[in-house]
Amino acid sequence: MKSAQLEISYSVYQDSDELSESDKNLLLRAREVTKLAYAPYSKFNVAAVALLANGQIVEGTNQENASTPAGLCAERVLLSTASMLFPNIQINAMAISYDNLQGKSIAPATPCGICRQTLQEYEDRLKHPIRLILGGLEGQVFIFEKAGLLLPFAFTGTAMKKN
Ligand code: THU
Repeated sequence: MKSAQLEISYSVYQDSDELSESDKNLLLRAREVTKLAYAPYSKFNVAAVALLANGQIVEGTNQENASTPAGLCAERVLLSTASMLFPNIQINAMAISYDNLQGKSIAPATPCGICRQTLQEYEDRLKHPIRLILGGLEGQVFIFEKAGLLLPFAFTGTAMKKN
């Protein structure tokens, strides 16, 4: 027996002004797009904005429902939209922001578990890392060079392969 460790690297920026022009534009857009969320129950507006390899921008916001499990996260609304409108076009980067209408929106929020699973499959499928730019309406910004970093030991289709 031996023990093993995992290390996850990411970058921490003090605020959005430290970002490259392109990353900053995506995050500023995500902050703006939080206004389009439909989140009357949680009052937690989330937006995701992606830059595709063909230069197109695709956006998503959380879409809630009185029946809670019917709600969708911003990231998965974006990925479904991108997959339908631009099938097979890789996603280079995705900025995710939020507006907590009942509290502060300062620390970066990271994608939920189901979104991590969905992001990681998108990366696998198109064989391309998605850079995540995570920030609230102000404050620190985290950048992960690949969404899959947030889901070590991910369950993938490989496990279901037939012999
Ligand atoms: N939410 C997202 O849109 N993305 C995440 O990664 C975390 C959570 C939404 C779902 C729900 O509408 C609200 O935030 C509160 O959980």
